[in-house]
Amino acid sequence: MKRRDFTNLLGLGLLTTSLPIAIAACQSDSASDAEGSGEFTTLGSMADLVAQGSVTGAIGGKDLVVVRDPSLPDAVLAVSPICTHAGCTVDWDRGQELFICPCHGGRFNPDGTVSGGPPPKPLTTFEAKIEGDQIMVKV
Ligand code: FES
Repeated sequence: MKRRDFTNLLGLGLLTTSLPIAIAACQSDSASDAEGSGEFTTLGSMADLVAQGSVTGAIGGKDLVVVRDPSLPDAVLAVSPICTHAGCTVDWDRGQELFICPCHGGRFNPDGTVSGGPPPKPLTTFEAKIEGDQIMVKV
């Protein structure tokens, strides 16, 4: 066997053995992308948010609260209302612009970050946007 034939055979063998691995890797990426790429779903209206100070609801079995972003008046923030300390449901305090946990006094900023009290980590956040009068959230 000539050197050139051997090299071609080696290249073909390498391609044949690595192709299924490359395909599997691509399929794996596609699957994980699909899991992490939920679609935006309407949670409520801006009219309700203006009237009530917040909009609550659930999408895909996840409870959500949406409030205005104090630093960007044309934007909204969506968080899970489940306190990260012991799982109580936080309330939005419109006057203080804080989420307050009734169980142990945990306090969270509108973006879900901890402002005070025992919660060890921020509230879970979700992507949110305004389309016309609709508040859209991606979970
Ligand atoms: Fe919220 Fe304890 S459960 S502060």
